[in-house]
Amino acid sequence: MEKFCIQGMKPLFGKVQAGGSKNAALPILAATLLSESPSVLHNVPDLLDVQTMVKVLETLGVKVERLSRGTYRIHPGDLNTSNAPYELIRKMRASFLVIGPLISRLQRAHVPLPGGCAIGSRPVDLHLKGFIHLGVKVTTHSGYIEAWSDGLKGDEVYLDFPSVGATENIMMLAATIDDETIIANAAREPEVVDLARFLSAMGAEIEGAGTDTVIVRGVKKLRGCEHYIINDRIEAGTFCVIAAATGGELTVQGVHPSLILSVTTKLEEVGAQVKRVGDQAVCISMEGRPRGTDIKTMPFPGFPTDMQAQFMSLLCLADGVSVVTEAVFENRFAHVGELERMGANIKVEGRSAVVLGVDTLTGTQVTATDLRAGAGLVIAGLAAEGETEIYGISHVDRGYEDLECKLGLLGATIERVSE
Ligand code: EPZ
Repeated sequence: MEKFCIQGMKPLFGKVQAGGSKNAALPILAATLLSESPSVLHNVPDLLDVQTMVKVLETLGVKVERLSRGTYRIHPGDLNTSNAPYELIRKMRASFLVIGPLISRLQRAHVPLPGGCAIGSRPVDLHLKGFIHLGVKVTTHSGYIEAWSDGLKGDEVYLDFPSVGATENIMMLAATIDDETIIANAAREPEVVDLARFLSAMGAEIEGAGTDTVIVRGVKKLRGCEHYIINDRIEAGTFCVIAAATGGELTVQGVHPSLILSVTTKLEEVGAQVKRVGDQAVCISMEGRPRGTDIKTMPFPGFPTDMQAQFMSLLCLADGVSVVTEAVFENRFAHVGELERMGANIKVEGRSAVVLGVDTLTGTQVTATDLRAGAGLVIAGLAAEGETEIYGISHVDRGYEDLECKLGLLGATIERVSE
C-alpha cells in the first residue's frame, strides 16, 4: 500500500494538460462489445478503473491489445460468455455498464447487482426499468441480475433522475434495436455525449445527446470504429481548484471552458481570477484568502458532485462561511472527518455541510475513502502548514493519472511512498 507525503503552503505555477476522461472511457470500453468487429480507442487514460474495465472485457473472452500509451484495440468478436465476474463488479461498479451490451450481443446477461460504495447505495433500478421498457425480462436472485430478451423494441423511457449510467446503458442497448427509442430526462453530461459520438460512429443514429431528451435509432449490426476519448473535465476542474487553494497560477489545458463553467464561476465567487485561454484552456490565479460561497451539486450543467470534495477543501480556508449541499449522492461527506483532523471547522446537517473558514489547515495523517475525497485531501495537504500524509491513495489512482508527477512539475513537494 502507498501513501502521499506532501509539504504544503507552496503556490503552484505553470501549465497542466488534462488527460483522457475516465468517465467517458469506461462506458465506451463497454460499448465496444456492441459490435463483432474491432474498435480502436485513443486517449484512454492509464488508470486503475480502466485496467479493471479491460479485465472485465478479457474475462468475457474479449481480446484487448494495448497498442501504445492511451491507445487500445478491442476485439469483441471473441465474446464468449454473458456472465460478468463478481470480483470485478464489486471492485468497480461502472463494470455494470457491460450489461446493456451483453443483452444486445447475447440476448442475455448474468451480472452481479453492484453493491453500494463509500458515497452511497448506488442502485441500478433506473437501468433495469429502461431495459424492461425495451423488452428485456429481468429477475434478481442471490445478488445477481438475470436478464434475457426474445425480441427487443424501441420505446419511450422516462428516467426519474437523469442518471449518467442509466442513460448510457439504455443508449447502448437501444443502439442495436432496429427501432426508435426516446430517453426522456436523460443525463446531459459530456461523457454521455462522447458515448453517443462513439455509438454514431458505430452506425447508430443518435439525436439530442447532451440534452434531456435523447433519440436513438438503432441498427441490428453495429461496426467497430476508431474513436478519440474526450479529456477529463473533472481532472481539469481539480487543477483549477488546486491553483486557487495554493495561491498560485495555473493554465489548465485540454478542456473547453464551457465544460467547467460551473466550477470556474464558483472560483470567481470566492475571489479567484479566471481567464479563458482560447477554446481549450483556462488560467486560474488567486491572491490572498478565498471568500466563502455556497455550492449545491447538480447533474450537468450544474456544479459536479465529482468536484464537491475538492471545492470543500478550498472553502475550509475561506474568510467566511460556506454551505455545501450534496444533492446527487446521499453519503458523500466522508472527507469531512479527515478535513477536521487537519483543523477544518465543518458541521454536517443531513445533505448539507456548513464550512466555517479557518486561517490555516495543519498537516497530519489522513485517509482517502473514495476517489474524489482523496483528491480533496491532496488539495488540503497542498494548502496546509507542514507535512500531510495521505493513506489509501489507491482510491486516487482510480481517477488521476500520475497525479504526483503533474503536481511536482508545478512546484509541489509531493512524494509517493510505501505505507
Ligand atoms: C457517474 O456515476 C460517474 N461514474 C460518477 O463519477 C458521477 O459521480 C456520477 O455519474 C454523477 O455525475 C462514471 O461515469 C463511471 P448516476 P453513476 O447514475 O452513473 C441515483 C467519479 O468520482 N441512481 O448519475 O453511477 C444514484 O443513487 C464517479 O468519477 C438511482 O437512484 O451516477 C445517485 O444518487 C463517482 N437509480 C444519482 O442517481 C439508478 O438506477 C446519480 O447517479 C441509477 C442512479
